[in-house]
Amino acid sequence: MSDEIKKGLLGIVVDETEVSKVMPEINSLTYRGYAAQDLCAKCKFEEVAYLILNGELPNNKQLKAFEKQERKERKLSKTLLADIKKIPRKAHPMDVARTVVSIMGLEDNETKDNSPKANLRKAMRIFAKTPVALAAFYRARKGKKMIPPKKNLSFSENFFHMCFGKVPKKEIVKAFDVSLILYAEHSFNVSTFTARTITSSLSDIHGAITGAIASLKGPLHGGANEEVMHMMNKIKKPENALKWINNALDKKDVVMGFGHRVYKNGDSRVPTMRNYFGKVAKIKKDKKFEKIYDIVEKVMIERKNIHPNVDYPTGPTYHLMGFDTDFFTPIFVISRITGWSAHIMEQHAANKLIRPLASYKGSQHRKVVQLNQR
Ligand code: CMC
Repeated sequence: MSDEIKKGLLGIVVDETEVSKVMPEINSLTYRGYAAQDLCAKCKFEEVAYLILNGELPNNKQLKAFEKQERKERKLSKTLLADIKKIPRKAHPMDVARTVVSIMGLEDNETKDNSPKANLRKAMRIFAKTPVALAAFYRARKGKKMIPPKKNLSFSENFFHMCFGKVPKKEIVKAFDVSLILYAEHSFNVSTFTARTITSSLSDIHGAITGAIASLKGPLHGGANEEVMHMMNKIKKPENALKWINNALDKKDVVMGFGHRVYKNGDSRVPTMRNYFGKVAKIKKDKKFEKIYDIVEKVMIERKNIHPNVDYPTGPTYHLMGFDTDFFTPIFVISRITGWSAHIMEQHAANKLIRPLASYKGSQHRKVVQLNQR
């Protein structure tokens, strides 16, 4: 066996998947063979969630049944709602997401059952309940009354309703839906690999998704959308952008929302999300962030040849929609639950314990000296 170390598992293929692939021939991320941007143009998020979880796009009847089930499962237990009210207001919503999924595992009657059917049922429950729990915390930490989910609203409409008490214009809902489609799945990224690693010990879906959320929180992964907004707030106005980005690059800073392990010539999700960012900015009559966006992007490409990833346009889009910055990555969570669940089911279906090796660099063998002689 070769002793060559591939830090960060760079370029290592560790398993097979049928869920998604970045297809070089069309230069695009695909879910179950469909280009993500094609799905954005022709589907709503629920159709894509069904596709990722079940392998095929739903027909009308299947979609109706899926939506009915999702809407039915939105209800949280009284205990969970009471627990959310007790969470410190200063808690980061990603830690809240991790905690509520963990609590759902305590409450679920099928936690121990890792059969494909039970896993799909549990995935649906986590998928339906997590946005409700997050929106409840969104309200609770502002001292506002929690807003219960509404069965006549779509997944995206309902999230706006539960956070803000109203559903915005349909163009804004569509932009949010598109962001969820683009965030839903991305093969063996850090959080998905975390979920698969946890699953590989034959642990359960609640544990695997709890771990995946912890992994997504980091700024090199999902946390980047939040960091993009902090960066834009630091830049403050378009007139400052050129100086700010040149200075950041002179200092060799990592610029959030740029670069990717898989895409080296641009993330295929960006043009679609950039387009919807523009639409939202137009509706909100606020062009400031678009101007900052364009200046920073131009310099990053000119000086470093590093392109934006999807977190770059989603950050300011969510801001313009009215979400608090620390809720951007939790929005990523409510979408990626679909991708994680599909991978967890795939891992259970053909499991092999994930257990890599390390090259040891510590002390050579030595004898223990008794405490009184040290
Ligand atoms: N800003 C400045 N320089 C960068 C950036 C960046 N955003 N990304 C890569 N580089 C440089 C990096 O410094 C390195 O330069 P050198 O070879 O001179 O040391 C070179 O490009 C290669 O980068 P790397 O970090 O070795 O590449 P990686 O594949 O290990 O990392 C990455 C990918 C996403 C961690 C990295 O690009 C990064 O830190 N980006 C910022 C965080 C971010 O936006 N994350 C979101 C990722 S995509 C969506 C998601 O998962 O949420």
